[in-house]
Amino acid sequence: MGDGDLNIDPWSSTQSTDYSRIIDQFGLSSLTNLTLPNPSHLHRRGIVFAHRDLDLVLQAQKTGDNFGVLTGLMPSGRMHLGHSMVIEQVKWFQNLGGDVTIAVADLESQATRGVSLAKGREIALHEYVANYAALGLNPDLTSVYFQSTRADVQRLGFQLGRRTNLSEFESIYGFKGDTNLAHVQAPMVQVGDILHPQTEEYGGLRPIVVPVGVDQDPHLRLTRGIAAKSNWFNIKNNNGPGILIGLSIQDDNAEIFGQQANGRIDKSKVSAIFAQVVERLTELGFSDINSNPKQGTIIVPSATKTDTTKIRLKLLQLERKLGGMGLLAPSSTYHHFAVGLTGEKMSSSKPKTTIFLDDDISTVTKKIRKAFSGGQSTIEEHRRLGGNPDIDVAYQYLMYFFEQDDAYLAELNAGYRSGKILAGEMKQICIDQATQWIENHHELRSQTEHLVSNFLAPDSK
Ligand code: TRP
Repeated sequence: MGDGDLNIDPWSSTQSTDYSRIIDQFGLSSLTNLTLPNPSHLHRRGIVFAHRDLDLVLQAQKTGDNFGVLTGLMPSGRMHLGHSMVIEQVKWFQNLGGDVTIAVADLESQATRGVSLAKGREIALHEYVANYAALGLNPDLTSVYFQSTRADVQRLGFQLGRRTNLSEFESIYGFKGDTNLAHVQAPMVQVGDILHPQTEEYGGLRPIVVPVGVDQDPHLRLTRGIAAKSNWFNIKNNNGPGILIGLSIQDDNAEIFGQQANGRIDKSKVSAIFAQVVERLTELGFSDINSNPKQGTIIVPSATKTDTTKIRLKLLQLERKLGGMGLLAPSSTYHHFAVGLTGEKMSSSKPKTTIFLDDDISTVTKKIRKAFSGGQSTIEEHRRLGGNPDIDVAYQYLMYFFEQDDAYLAELNAGYRSGKILAGEMKQICIDQATQWIENHHELRSQTEHLVSNFLAPDSK
């Protein structure tokens, strides 16, 4: 890591909000270049601001192909408004036709926060899943499981450990010699979480999107790197036109790919593999295929960048047929964090920084009254200079959580900036909207409480 580079630590209690630098440094794509179907308020307001490979998911959605959504929850504290943002996004993907898998990170919570598995389960069900039901996730299309009881996830994480090493952990997470190994194990289990939905037992090969806050991006970088390293076929842009396919020879495919123990190459095996690749490309409709087993390359001159996904999926299927894992790198989306009520980071361990979904109305009211304000210190000054909605918590919470109407929000924004709306008035508007939102949520929570067990996967009942 060079001087001045950002280091994102998923376990840290502070957070960088320098989002454009994050986009640059970690190679995220901005969301402004994609057209989203039926965007939610989080998309319309730029709160979900970046992605990796979301186009794969949108493409699948458009053509009616399967795609999945995966997220995880850390069962340690109470569920607050910040946590609800991921669920809003999961719901959006669910409404677009995605199947939903949710990992309860009980192993991670035990290893990094000392929460017992039994306690983790209780928190997950009563704090989180009960709120998911109230927030409108569909139990018939959602599958919640526990890291501790899904052996397939642990096995996958363990197996894929051979595709990374301590240097990579050092560079991604900033680990040192005294880093506790729980912080090495937890990301590997998370790799298992993220990749397992595409295995045959859990729905098969399809794009899987992971909506997260930027703090979780290190895990995605790790997972995407591992998936790519495990792939048997490389797909690259050709130097000339089109794309170039090559073999990635590894321990577990050397024999199938004709690498003999004596160092010679079994040409008939290589040709057989190449023939299967050509067959798959022909199925996709390509006719100009330049297959050269001797050089170890296949060039498809007419293939464009948008064909790459189709080709990749076909070759991952072929890899699976040949005995490989055939893992597709996960897609992801990133959201901005809502500021804490006090102006610092929202955190379950500091109740004053956030609103819990089970806070009662008088607590919510008090918290908003005391919230950090972007107004001026006297009314006279405020009228003259105006307030700053970008740092005004009441305005921010209306934008992130409570106000659906974009036009009204724009009015509030302009009114605040011009000094027409006072800080106290903004707070009152926020309190009114929050009261409605929270009351409605509590009502829905009691109506949907009985659905909790329907969310659980068969191995997690
Ligand atoms: N590490 C996540 C957290 O701290 C929880 C988690 C576990 C997760 N597995 C995941 C998040 C998979 C997203 C995807 O909250």
